[in-house]
Amino acid sequence: MCGIVGYVGYKEVGPVLLDGLKRLEYRGYDSAGIAVRTSEGKIEIRKREGKLSQLTNELNGSAPRGTLGMGHTRWATHGAPNDVNAHPHTDESGRVVVIHNGIIENYAELREELKTRGHVFQSQTDTEIFAHLVEEEFAKRGNAGAVNFIDAVRAALKLVRGAYSFVVMDARVPDLIIGARHFSPLIVGVGENENLFASDIPALLEHTRKALIIQDGEVVALTHDAVRIFTLDGESVEREPFEVTWDVTSAEKGGYPTFFTKEIFEQPAALANALRGRVDTDGVHLPELDAIDFERIERAHIVACGTSYHAGLAAKLALEQWVRVPVNVEIASEYRYASPVVDGKTLLILITQSGETADTLACFRLAKERGAQTLALTNVVGSSITRGADAVIYLRVGPEIGVVATKTYTAQVALLELVALWWAIRNGRMTNDERRITLSTFLRLPDLVEATLGAEQQAKSLAEKLTAHRSAFFFGRGFGYVAALEGALKLKEVSYLHAEAYAAGELKHGPIAMLDPEIPVIAIATRSATLDKVVSNMQEVRARRAPVIAIATEGDTFIAQHADDVIYIPSAPEHLVPILALAPLQLLSYYVAVARGCDVDQPRNLAKSVTVE
Ligand code: F6R
Repeated sequence: MCGIVGYVGYKEVGPVLLDGLKRLEYRGYDSAGIAVRTSEGKIEIRKREGKLSQLTNELNGSAPRGTLGMGHTRWATHGAPNDVNAHPHTDESGRVVVIHNGIIENYAELREELKTRGHVFQSQTDTEIFAHLVEEEFAKRGNAGAVNFIDAVRAALKLVRGAYSFVVMDARVPDLIIGARHFSPLIVGVGENENLFASDIPALLEHTRKALIIQDGEVVALTHDAVRIFTLDGESVEREPFEVTWDVTSAEKGGYPTFFTKEIFEQPAALANALRGRVDTDGVHLPELDAIDFERIERAHIVACGTSYHAGLAAKLALEQWVRVPVNVEIASEYRYASPVVDGKTLLILITQSGETADTLACFRLAKERGAQTLALTNVVGSSITRGADAVIYLRVGPEIGVVATKTYTAQVALLELVALWWAIRNGRMTNDERRITLSTFLRLPDLVEATLGAEQQAKSLAEKLTAHRSAFFFGRGFGYVAALEGALKLKEVSYLHAEAYAAGELKHGPIAMLDPEIPVIAIATRSATLDKVVSNMQEVRARRAPVIAIATEGDTFIAQHADDVIYIPSAPEHLVPILALAPLQLLSYYVAVARGCDVDQPRNLAKSVTVE
């Protein structure tokens, strides 16, 4: 996820780009850059690692001058966040200039092909290849006119696979900027004698309230006075702009009241991004894992904190079930001061969305000293955990602005389970049928999560009941227990309502003493081999007159006999419950928090990355 702005018109473009990028910084902030076509027909680029303010301060009001340009604020997916990898990127002549949001899946092969044809690359990004492809296609077409440039961009787009929104311009072509979209957002702002591209509406509002949505597979050519839309094959498309009624603040949150809710609702798209190119009907594709010598591994230790620790618990269940490798999941602050049996035969899996959690980093150093191989899962390219890890898997879900983890958690679980599936297939531990079914389940995952978001209204009305209570219990078994732990943590974090999660079978060993009509119990009672046991535990709870809210599988209507309320989630294999049960639980905690007047985006006492012990 990155922020993109493009402009053609009559205004001095530098301030337009910098202001637009400021509005899009929530989409990424590890580097920023602008490119301006000057009136002499030169492309001037300024880009800098770090937040946009770094670039703005350096420019100090003297951005290159011109009325055609583009800007980018980056959330890295390929290549560390540094000056060289910051966008815009050019071909070697410096004439074709490109910004990009998304992932080019076949970039490695395209890069190799381009190298054999003599192209030289400056950066480690997937984006840069696109500038070279456009330049090649443009050169094939004779004169450097606008029509040929549009054709060249269309031809280059046909060579790339993956998700993208691109904005492209060429030093030789005045008054033209081209955009294209496939699975990554890009919209057009239609102005008076000016037109713009942007990843999102906030960047347009200073200039126009007329916006036009670009569909996947379309190419759009903007001049100062025209917007022309084409299919990849060059057919013209007619579309009317719509009127934007949002103010800037609600536009940044995509119309949601908070980043927390926005990020909850973003989960289907975030998961699609995390899984894109990594799983298909043929198998799991995680080239990142090639760096690990799996022949040496006899055990895995998973180390993390908080929500990331919960994702680790789901991973343990999947790894032990599918790969039959012994796994310990440890809280990082405990692991580092215990005496873990960690050596060259251990794979240490470190889960940290920020990549900066001090306790997790300390475990990383300890395990490396003892010869363990390390696999890190993080959302932040170039973060501390990525330095020195043998393998790194990026979540690719874009920045999570809400302090409380939502989309990073569901992506962690999905990707860790994908690692388990990859490993099981590698070790020949799955039958063809198991493999086929499990692969197809991952392909359906974004749609399944989308379906769970339909529980919003029900979560809202249940929240009214919960709000009045002093405490809530959550329970489940196996994968359901993981969902219970994460659901309880969400409730505590955003609403400050006390909540505890237990393995359902543990309740009778003590916590049941607490139960009375004042303590509601949220039971993860989804379909599984242990569902009848969970139902018995629900009966035990009801016998103590505690109200029960169940999360159950669609079709299991009998659960309603054992609960006061039931939220149904789609039928899916058990291993997806830590993901599928979460959106309803996140929404439940959100509405309890709202009723209790809490700041859900920045709950008291919490920080997005915990860099102290
Ligand atoms: C919960 C939450 C925290 C983090 C924990 C670890 O919503 O965000 O519990 O999960 O502080 O952070 P990372 O994953 O950055 O290591």
